[in-house]
Amino acid sequence: MTDYAFGETVDMAKIALFHGPNLNLLGTRETNIYGAVTLAEIDARVIAAAAPNHEVRPLQSNHEGALIDAIHDARTWADGLLINPGAFTHYSYAIRDAVAAVKLPAVEVHLSNIHAREPFRHTSVIAPVCIGQICGFGWRSYLLGLRALLDHLQDQS
Ligand code: DQA
Repeated sequence: MTDYAFGETVDMAKIALFHGPNLNLLGTRETNIYGAVTLAEIDARVIAAAAPNHEVRPLQSNHEGALIDAIHDARTWADGLLINPGAFTHYSYAIRDAVAAVKLPAVEVHLSNIHAREPFRHTSVIAPVCIGQICGFGWRSYLLGLRALLDHLQDQS
């Protein structure tokens, strides 16, 4: 078994962290499903988990076009994408195409287990252009996603 610790995977990776619509309401929104942790707390925890070796730049938007512009922009600076597309997960071909277009490795994350919820949530049109999807672990899905993304970057380096 090799020594292995979170955050020691690759040299200085820059990660774009995107949150889609309604996730700005975390902490008050359907807390029975999404938990009581706020978006600011999630961002802080992901940034802290990545530090000091890696940089995470978070962005939340309720607007599809703003997310697409930010995904395009990430092409100029990021090594990978960690994305919770919110409800866009289930129908935004435009966000899917943006993720595919920038050719950055992406991990899709969800707080809830979308496969155990309403049928319309069982489909992700984004997952096929991602390395993989992590869901159902509450705010920790983001940390697991970060780890998966950093490990992938390590494998590619
Ligand atoms: C979500 C799941 C989506 O179905 C929903 O529309 C969200 C949050 C999650 O993190 O569990 O907004 O992406």
